[in-house]
Amino acid sequence: MLHSKNISNDSQDKNLTEHVKTVGKHFTVLNNRYLGIYGDVIEASRTANPDEMLTYLATNAGIKDGMTLLDAGCGVCGPARFFASKFAVQIDAITAVQLQKEIAEIKNREQFLDSRIQVLCGDFHQLSNYYPKNHYDIVYFFESFCHSYDIHRVIQEAHAVLKPGGCIYMKDWFLIDRLKLKDPIKYVIVKNRINEFYSFNFKDGINELASVIGYLNHHGFEVEFGRKPGYETGDYKLTALFHGNHEVYGPNNEYQDNDLGGDISDVFDVIEIFELKARKQL
Ligand SMILES: C[S@@+](CC[C@H](N)C(=O)[O-])C[C@H]1O[C@@H](n2cnc3c(N)ncnc32)[C@H](O)[C@@H]1O
Repeated sequence: MLHSKNISNDSQDKNLTEHVKTVGKHFTVLNNRYLGIYGDVIEASRTANPDEMLTYLATNAGIKDGMTLLDAGCGVCGPARFFASKFAVQIDAITAVQLQKEIAEIKNREQFLDSRIQVLCGDFHQLSNYYPKNHYDIVYFFESFCHSYDIHRVIQEAHAVLKPGGCIYMKDWFLIDRLKLKDPIKYVIVKNRINEFYSFNFKDGINELASVIGYLNHHGFEVEFGRKPGYETGDYKLTALFHGNHEVYGPNNEYQDNDLGGDISDVFDVIEIFELKARKQL
């Protein structure tokens, strides 16, 4: 459901900040590579069959028939279509990328799910500009919260649009200190390169799981859990393919030939995937 303040594509674009525009550029330039390698579920942390992970996430998010969901950072709506095909739910989905919105709408129509999933191109730092307050049962983020440039604002906006008792659920990237403890200089280099390449905005003292749990408690949520997900995680083979595979996808000069720099295992000593659920207090 869209709010009466919903606005046209042109004026939406003017409201998107520079950071969100770089997110848009990242996913537009790399769209073929993302969809070709990851498919409709644009997530690096995944099970071999992504349906198994999505089933796990649906259970832990608490998705049930009759609910109204908000997919914050929806990509091309792979997860939203999976949920809408398994549950009688209505989903509003938002992406910062116009191209993803267009692809999602085509795919939603092809699967006769367009009446159940509405897609908007906009900024999830401004959810209450587009959507009604106190409305959603669940606002979920799958590998999208990591792109936020102001996580306080995202948490406040999610709080505003959730019903009292509704939940924020995320399966997302957080900073960890494995490499920092081993090699603090390398840690800074790898973190900066991750921020630059992926259009993240990770900062020490802000993007760790413990900090985000603290903010959620501060902003009127009760945290139910923050932990490593229990699904069988892959070995990041697809991530390696994403950063290579030039013979199929061609060089990518826009992003320094797609090279993240260093060893891919260093990356997973700087960031780690966690699932986090918090309930808006009644
Ligand atoms: C790695 S993709 C994940 C897509 C989707 N959640 C999935 O699982 O397939 C990250 C998504 O976050 C979205 N995103 C990042 N920053 C955003 C913002 N400020 N507002 C809306 N969407 C954003 C991007 O547009 C992209 O769709």
